[in-house]
Amino acid sequence: MEITFKDKVVQITGAGSGFGRTAALEFAGAGAKLVLSDVNSAGLDETMSMLNLGDDRAIAVGCDVSNPDDVAQMVKSGIDHFSALDIAINNAGVASELTRIEHISQKDFDLIMAVNVKGVFLCMQQELNQMMAQGSGIIVNVASVAGLIGAPFLAAYAASKHAVVGLTKSAALEYARKNIRINAICPASCHTPMVDAVLQGDKGAKREQDIAGSIPMGRMGTPQEIVSGMMWLCSDQNSFTTGQALAFDGGLSTA
Ligand SMILES: NC(=O)c1ccc[n+]([C@@H]2O[C@H](COP(=O)([O-])OP(=O)(O)OC[C@H]3O[C@@H](n4cnc5c(N)ncnc54)[C@H](O)[C@@H]3O)[C@@H](O)[C@H]2O)c1
Repeated sequence: MEITFKDKVVQITGAGSGFGRTAALEFAGAGAKLVLSDVNSAGLDETMSMLNLGDDRAIAVGCDVSNPDDVAQMVKSGIDHFSALDIAINNAGVASELTRIEHISQKDFDLIMAVNVKGVFLCMQQELNQMMAQGSGIIVNVASVAGLIGAPFLAAYAASKHAVVGLTKSAALEYARKNIRINAICPASCHTPMVDAVLQGDKGAKREQDIAGSIPMGRMGTPQEIVSGMMWLCSDQNSFTTGQALAFDGGLSTA
């Protein structure tokens, strides 16, 4: 069964790196029109260069998802340009240092909540406004396996991702009869710049071994595996799934 997104308008936040960049490349390959955003303009430019598409297929919009004006402008730019918003991937996020709760600074806690929770909330508000007006839509929020189970030394991050799951389930129920499907994906660790930053340094190799060892399948995931799941969730072949927090985690949340 081939998944196509021909002429579907897909908006992706955090498209300048990691899962967001992989998603941009894969959705483009499947025929989508893209509204790509990131707070990191260099990363976003690099993704646009890799895509090498004209503005009839892809536009880039600078956006800090924790800033309501930026988010409103991002969604408006996409609609002004492509006249619709079919699929929104709320992917932008930040991680925290591995540390015990007593050492998490209030500043770091506030940043994680602002980007990972408020950012998803602000994006969903603007996206749902448009999707209600057009009478259809699909949203995928990128949570984490740390949104399903406890994550020692990542408490603030885990709290933020549990909140994303709560937002997703509640919104899915609110919009279930409005032809709008809303799901979350919950990946385990994959090599992206976010995770590689945690794996740097003397303890990096040991940490990587520990992560892989904790996953029942015995290895970390790949961005490609996560994006394949994301695309399947957004596809027409999967038209009866809403309100799910779907793990792509090599069995970790089941163990
Ligand atoms: N990599 C993993 O193993 C993993 C596992 C589970 C969940 N996730 C989640 O997947 C998502 C993508 O992570 P990734 O691993 O690709 O990380 P990444 O760091 O490679 O990419 C994240 C992107 O988000 C952008 N971003 C950060 N703050 C932003 C803001 N305020 N506004 C707009 N953009 C912002 C960054 O500039 C970056 O381009 C995140 O939500 C992350 O929590 C990642």
